[in-house]
Amino acid sequence: MKYTITLGALAALSLAGIAPSAAAQGKPAAEKHHMKPMHAMPAMKAAPDPTTADFEKFREVLEDDNPAELFEQKGKELWTMKRGPKNASLEQCDLGLGPGVVKGAYVKMPRYFADVDQVMDAERRIVYCMETLQGFKAADLAKKPFSSDSSTPDPVSLTTYVAGQSRGMKLAIPQKNPKEREAFEVGREIFHYRAGPYDFSCATCHGEDGKRIRTQVLPNLSSKSGAMAATQGWPGYRMTGGLMHTIQWRMNDCFRQQRFPEPGYVSQTITDLLTYMAVNANGQVYKGPGIKR
Ligand code: HEC
Repeated sequence: MKYTITLGALAALSLAGIAPSAAAQGKPAAEKHHMKPMHAMPAMKAAPDPTTADFEKFREVLEDDNPAELFEQKGKELWTMKRGPKNASLEQCDLGLGPGVVKGAYVKMPRYFADVDQVMDAERRIVYCMETLQGFKAADLAKKPFSSDSSTPDPVSLTTYVAGQSRGMKLAIPQKNPKEREAFEVGREIFHYRAGPYDFSCATCHGEDGKRIRTQVLPNLSSKSGAMAATQGWPGYRMTGGLMHTIQWRMNDCFRQQRFPEPGYVSQTITDLLTYMAVNANGQVYKGPGIKR
């Protein structure tokens, strides 16, 4: 009941958020229906931005009553329920702190897992547990991995639950194992690798302070403070579209913006990028699943 009200209020607020901002920027109201695709827009230097200020206000209000909690709850149910071909729960899933330990695990991933001799990020590890413990097929999970109007994939809710269990904790991504250091190095290379029709790299859009595309401020993910944007607020309830997304979705969408081929769902490439960005943000406090514009 509580969430019915919240979601309604959220929709109203997000609509209210668009109108005054467009007006504040002196844009004709019709223009918001005919936006150019954002990847076609050149990145520009930031000016104080009323849209961002508006959004931040809404976000603060809403974070007290965050719709992401709904997905945390659903994820918790999915975690404890016996499911899949093997009719098992995920309660024995080892997220790096031992089988069944969820608390604090999210802020310590990506990390090395000896049983697979690989570095895995949270969602990748959860998918791995769904495969090994419950008998789900990774290929099936990869078919529709992102939220849509019709459904929220189980790994999204599960990742949101796991992330919520690290709320208020400091990022402490380990770099002891050689494979963890390799993931960081490879991630850094991918981040700076320029290619594609526009010769873009991640760094083209996220490599300096104060860049923006249209109204969207682009965090400098290569800086210590900016890198936290790759973790903070993710998984996030996205006001545009009203869907719950994890950082896997964000990465996929940025590869699209970069006009790169779509990366594989929970692939090593994504783990490497997440390792690079999360290690850069080590020591900062994770506030839990959030709200994104
Ligand atoms: C063409 C420009 C462009 C490129 C290239 C690009 N991104 Fe993005 N990125 C964006 C935009 C736009 C957003 C959304 C910002 C918003 O919604 O406020 C974004 C958001 C993000 C976020 C979330 C930040 C937050 O505050 O939540 C992360 C993390 C990210 N990008 C990482 C990457 C990585 C890694 C790459 C390279 C694989 C990449 N991006 C390539 C434009 C780009």
